[in-house]
Amino acid sequence: AQAEKNGYAHFMLKEIYEQPRAVRDTLAGRLCNASGVIELPEINVSPETFQSAQRVLIASCGTSWHAGLAAKFLLERMARIPVEVDYASEFRYRDPLVSGSDIGLLISQSGETADTLAAQAEMIAKGSQTVAICNVVGAALTRKAVGTITTNAGPEIGVASTKAFTAQLAALLAFSLYAAQSRGTMTPEEIQALSQDLLKLPALMETALRSCQPVCESLAEIFANASDFLFLGRGIHYPIALEGALKLKEISYVHAEGYPAGEMKHGPNALVDETLPVVCVATKDIHDPTSVLKYEKTLSNIQEVTARGGRVIAIAVEGDNEIAKLVEHTIYVPQAREVLLPLIEVIPLQLLAYHIAVKRGCDVDQPRNLAKSVTVE
Ligand code: G6P
Repeated sequence: AQAEKNGYAHFMLKEIYEQPRAVRDTLAGRLCNASGVIELPEINVSPETFQSAQRVLIASCGTSWHAGLAAKFLLERMARIPVEVDYASEFRYRDPLVSGSDIGLLISQSGETADTLAAQAEMIAKGSQTVAICNVVGAALTRKAVGTITTNAGPEIGVASTKAFTAQLAALLAFSLYAAQSRGTMTPEEIQALSQDLLKLPALMETALRSCQPVCESLAEIFANASDFLFLGRGIHYPIALEGALKLKEISYVHAEGYPAGEMKHGPNALVDETLPVVCVATKDIHDPTSVLKYEKTLSNIQEVTARGGRVIAIAVEGDNEIAKLVEHTIYVPQAREVLLPLIEVIPLQLLAYHIAVKRGCDVDQPRNLAKSVTVE
């Protein structure tokens, strides 16, 4: 088993480091071709179907649900199509409104999660076509779908998902680009420019791995004994905050909660005191005014936390020298476009959870009470 870990102490760490490769392999052949066109024949959904579709319905579980939540931001922004995101375990118990003009999208690393399969069956029974995003070729989910984007993350052994998650986000970016092209909501030039930037994404992830590793290890030393954590984010960074909290809960058994930054004032601010670490995803795309505006609002939320003595760990983009003056700790990641930042900023959250779990002596790869794939409802 040691050999399979390639010299890493745990499968999870190895898989964290495999992410640039997983993302590169998932995007390969799915970005603009020589004529500047995105082709995604494997999903089997025609441009006309995307044009007439009323909604995209997403159902998934756990980390895959966080990818689904991020996909809502991607698809609504890029393809201007309304998206609903459900926990697969909730979907079918409310007699959901599904029609033939909805496209169902099921996201699952294993493709065997019982709740996700049940949600897919409900969508199909109500007349919608379903597309799978799945890391396992031939899995049950893919057999019922009209088409599948296979995430090429390779086998994931650690129970806590890492490389499958960023590969899902990469697949969802390709899906969103194809949807945008089909619906004419992005110009061919915009599609090409984003495709070009996606090609550079794995290198940015490499940089994040290198620069965040030592910082996350020393922060883990400082905070390993905290009993609760909050994770905050706004917009597309909110699902990433949720994922950071989930990683920590899963492998370190520390209570953690993810929250939209702007909701703090409606409750969680009451939890803040000098013992509470608050990890805040405060990245921004400096070329995108909406992203910058969102970031500034998040900064005011951070100040509300520090004013109450909370210990803020900010995830920020390189070049942001202002934020370090406001918070106790800053972890820097490379700058990128808003829609690419999630795949970069999740890296320090994974590393932080990993090092805290190691310092607490937990079984990182096989946390208690959890299974890699849950085949009961
Ligand atoms: C389990 C795993 C999680 C995973 C979830 C959904 O709870 O421990 O890591 O995110 O199932 O799994 P799936 O295979 O459907 O993505």
